[in-house]
Amino acid sequence: MSGQAPIPPLKIGSVALGGRVQIAPMTGVTDLPFRRAAVRAGASYVATEMVASADFAKGRPDIVRKAAGGDDLPLMVVQLVGADPLAMANAAKLAEAAGAHLIDINMGCPAKEVVGVRSGAALMRDLNLAERLIAATTAVVSVPVTVKMRLGWDPCTQVAPHLAEIAARNGASGVTVHGRTRSQFYSGNADWGAVRDVVRAVAIPVSVNGDIVDVASARAALSASGAAAVMMGRGVYGQPWAAGAIDQALAGQGDAEARSQADILEAVLVHFAETLRFYGDGLGLKIFRKHLGWYVERACSAGTAEGRRAAKARLCRIENPNDLVADLSQFWRDAA
Ligand SMILES: Cc1cc2nc3c(=O)[nH]c(=O)nc-3n(C[C@H](O)[C@H](O)[C@H](O)COP(=O)(O)O)c2cc1C
Repeated sequence: MSGQAPIPPLKIGSVALGGRVQIAPMTGVTDLPFRRAAVRAGASYVATEMVASADFAKGRPDIVRKAAGGDDLPLMVVQLVGADPLAMANAAKLAEAAGAHLIDINMGCPAKEVVGVRSGAALMRDLNLAERLIAATTAVVSVPVTVKMRLGWDPCTQVAPHLAEIAARNGASGVTVHGRTRSQFYSGNADWGAVRDVVRAVAIPVSVNGDIVDVASARAALSASGAAAVMMGRGVYGQPWAAGAIDQALAGQGDAEARSQADILEAVLVHFAETLRFYGDGLGLKIFRKHLGWYVERACSAGTAEGRRAAKARLCRIENPNDLVADLSQFWRDAA
């Protein structure tokens, strides 16, 4: 036990979350097989990849797939991105009808192709459009709506407290703030202290995001920001169980026991099998390679960098799923 006071659970609007550690929406990472892997391992909140509202509303199959859920997910959080209030409202209605419990709006993505069409972090420079998007979305769904943002566009325009206040005034039930500006992309360190200005500005729950990778950084981010919850992104690469374990520690239930190598291998193989089922063998194998690399990094972190590189290169060249399962299982036993 850590001796620190347990932190009580969190409610976003009408939705009670099972914990205070959320897994961030990550394109190319938080697809349905990954979300299932995380939930099986104790995560209480995992957002979808961002879902382009207009394409989702039109039913584009690859976009619809990003918003896929399942009965085994106790909480379905769909993140929408876009710049057209009507399309976002339509997408939100569809997501709610498909079972979403929470809708999140992306106002933080820094990618050129996203900000170039007035979406993502570009909305931090266009608060009028941001307000119309939030208002249009909250008006048409009965599930809570949240907004994910950065501190601002650049160091001179840190508008997160203002945008959060706009969100709250227009019916949003929570906000997440990544403690970097758009101009930083992913460089430098997340400024958790700056998120405190957002916490002060609104009465709705604020989640702090950026560089949270373990119990110590989760506690430090909560303490620096005063936020109600933490959101982890890259820290869950290769360890979808990290969020659940950190949650357990924050809740004062002690440190999670280290997983045995056999348990980890089993979780990896189930994740792989579900990825193949979800995408089909060809695409599934390609998509899983990214996770495979991260799992191998974590699995043999005690080994040499050269050994890890060689194992990843070999495993990622295997084209037959059965061969991959056999080779990976052998590698794991050797690494253990
Ligand atoms: C590969 C990748 C994909 C991401 N995709 C999204 C996304 O779809 N929507 C979003 O709001 N943020 C996205 N982000 C940003 C993360 O949600 C998060 O805000 C950021 O990574 C900072 O958290 P971290 O330091 O814990 O990774 C993405 C980040 C990464 C690394």
